[in-house]
Amino acid sequence: MQTVHALNPLRQTVDALREQAGAGTRLALVPTMGALHEGHLTLVRRAKELAGLVAVSIFVNPRQFGPNEDLDAYPRQMERDSRLLEAEGVDLLWAPDVGAMYPQGYATNISVSGVSAGLCGADRPGHFDGVATVVCKLFNQVRPDIALFGEKDWQQLAVIRRMARDLDLALPHADAILGVPIVREADGLAMSSRNAYLSPEQRQAAGRLNVAMREAIARLGHDATAAVLADLRSAILAAGFDSVDYTELRDADSIELLDAPNGHARLFVAARIGGTRLIDNMAA
Ligand code: PAJ
Repeated sequence: MQTVHALNPLRQTVDALREQAGAGTRLALVPTMGALHEGHLTLVRRAKELAGLVAVSIFVNPRQFGPNEDLDAYPRQMERDSRLLEAEGVDLLWAPDVGAMYPQGYATNISVSGVSAGLCGADRPGHFDGVATVVCKLFNQVRPDIALFGEKDWQQLAVIRRMARDLDLALPHADAILGVPIVREADGLAMSSRNAYLSPEQRQAAGRLNVAMREAIARLGHDATAAVLADLRSAILAAGFDSVDYTELRDADSIELLDAPNGHARLFVAARIGGTRLIDNMAA
């Protein structure tokens, strides 16, 4: 695996890898912020199935963190991550420093409206601008043929697809942006780098979030949606969470609010436990 930290060597390395691999070999990009877990590695393995060359980026993107969020505390484990990616047979690790990504004078922002309006977009102002901006830059830097993202961040996936369509991004275009199903722990908790913040007690409570969501989904369509969502909120608090940012039923593609399942709905939840914000979503 080749590791590069600056734009010029990145371009040279990508060109050399493509030349070695031969015409027609696809290059897949898996963007991450590091602190890799099985969720990330599942994206990498899927990328290896779909493409002859796989690049992974690790960049803790300051523009997608709010002023009171966990940018400084966010886990950074570059050596361990690098070993894990090497073992997966990744070809290229792109790990720019902040100055390479946002040099002095940097002034451009990409803002996607509509799909980014509710859910995490409402709770974390500017978050999806930061995501869209850095992902657009990563696409232009690495110029992959396909890119893979987790359904754990369903709204993020919708924002990135919308951006790729709206800006006519050729590399990769919206259809070449692939979603990978959520990878969960044994008790059903969606894997996340932020799970590392949880104490053993909080970790146990966090495992009840997905159970409460499944119970709510079983009731949808039989009971009034508003009552099901309100009961879900109560169940999450009863499980030991400190607060609930949202429990909402939305269309899977447009991310518009629904008052009843439409055959294409998803249940979205964000809740906080001891300062850690966890999100999850499921087909409903
Ligand atoms: P990060 O949180 O590191 O996640 C990187 C990718 O891994 C994302 O596409 C995310 O959805 C996916 N992922 C994380 N946990 C997962 C799980 N349990 N199952 C399946 N996929 C999972 O998301 C980001 O970084 C950033 O916003 C980024 C896109 C890199 C832009 O900075």
